Amino acid sequence: MARSREKNKGRFAAPRRFTSRALVLAVVVFTVGTTAFGLQATGALKAPRQDWSWSLPQGFPQPRVPAKNKMSRAKVEIGHRLFYDTRLSGNGTQSCSSCHFPELAFTDGRTTPVGSTGDVLARNAPSVANSAYHRTFTWANPALTSLESQMDVPLFGTNPVEMGINDKNKKKVLGRIKRDPWYAKRFPRVYRWSKKPVNWFNIIRSISAFQRSIVTGTSKYNRFLRGKAELTSSERSGLNLFMGEDGECHHCHGSFIFEDQATYIGAADERLKFHNTGLYNVGGTGAYPFGNRGLFEITGKKKDMGAFRAPSLLNVARTAPYMHDGSVKTLMDVVDIYARGGRLITEGPYAGDGALNPHKNPLISGIKLSEQDKKDIVAFLRTLTEMDYSKDPRFADPFK
Ligand code: HEC
Ligand code: HEC
Repeated sequence: MARSREKNKGRFAAPRRFTSRALVLAVVVFTVGTTAFGLQATGALKAPRQDWSWSLPQGFPQPRVPAKNKMSRAKVEIGHRLFYDTRLSGNGTQSCSSCHFPELAFTDGRTTPVGSTGDVLARNAPSVANSAYHRTFTWANPALTSLESQMDVPLFGTNPVEMGINDKNKKKVLGRIKRDPWYAKRFPRVYRWSKKPVNWFNIIRSISAFQRSIVTGTSKYNRFLRGKAELTSSERSGLNLFMGEDGECHHCHGSFIFEDQATYIGAADERLKFHNTGLYNVGGTGAYPFGNRGLFEITGKKKDMGAFRAPSLLNVARTAPYMHDGSVKTLMDVVDIYARGGRLITEGPYAGDGALNPHKNPLISGIKLSEQDKKDIVAFLRTLTEMDYSKDPRFADPFK
């Protein structure tokens, strides 16, 4: 037991006594099940179990869900509320949704966000929609392989501070959640094995389950795949460029969620991919700006300079500005950079020609595109927009 807990290190270890307690509970229910009290208890115990079924869009495989955090409707409901609850930050000013707005497909429209205590973050906020399918999280960190482990960053991170929960205020923050009767009623039903159900593990489990639940398949492109929508000729020509060998886009954005790290039940665990797309070439040295050098920040290896995850392009029309540092304003600008084979920065501290970056992925070699071709690619990218999540009660701010 001790060994497996160690292997599991970090905050997200398994609840040790889960199996034995569940067994004890099952026996109790079985023996007192016929009395009035027993029936009530049975109902309360049964409710949150195995009541989750994915309604997956065409072409979307079954997501992987960690064994320690099975999906349930009641759990997703708790996570939904917590995601929007500003009491979950040290100073009570920020929730997850402060940087992940539902109306912007859970991004925030800013170049880079500002944390609860004023720290400016280095990277652009990515969408949390469809995150059930990501193999790694954030822009370039192969170690963050679950939503659960990712959440340590916004909750407890100190460099930079996001939600600002630390050893000093941890108890106080938990107290705010515990004292709310809405949570007090629901946590014990979902986390029946926990002595103190309102704890950080269970908060993290709930929010992760909510994030996993955000899969809708309502985009025009998905409707087109189902034979329920027609693409315009411009969108169709954009699709062909995107998927064809002229555009090369599909090599890195070719999966059902338009990224190359997607995971799901039955997926092969290929080598993780991170790519330098020639956004920078500071002083002609191949460097990216300090603190934003991609995989290099973690491995220190030259070949990883400027290597980032290819983000999912679902909802991309709503997630401007673009790239890991939010330095590209529009989709047309993105396409222009790909067409050129990298970005040219002519002045300032980051001046340099990204097209000549020695670490650049060879697929980013410049593409001959007419103005109409570029417009077509953008038109196609716009067909990847899912529903406005702020308009669906399953995802919208429950405090509004
Ligand atoms: C102050 C702004 C801010 C807050 C608050 C915030 N995030 Fe984020 N989030 C970001 C940024 C910026 C990134 C990208 C970080 C990086 O790549 O280094 C990110 C990344 C993520 C990712 C990874 C998505 C992906 O595609 O890899 C998830 C999931 C996520 N946040 C969930 C949450 C949750 C859950 C909360 C609340 C507990 C939260 N965030 C609070 C700014 C924020
Ligand atoms: C070699 C792999 C690769 C190829 C080929 C590629 N991309 Fe990308 N794409 C990436 C990576 C990596 C990023 C993030 C780069 C960064 O932030 O530094 C990205 C970012 C983007 C973004 C910004 C998304 C966001 O949320 O910020 C868009 C849009 C995009 N690519 C579209 C395209 C299109 C259109 C093509 C074809 C013309 C294409 N990509 C070809 C790897 C690739």
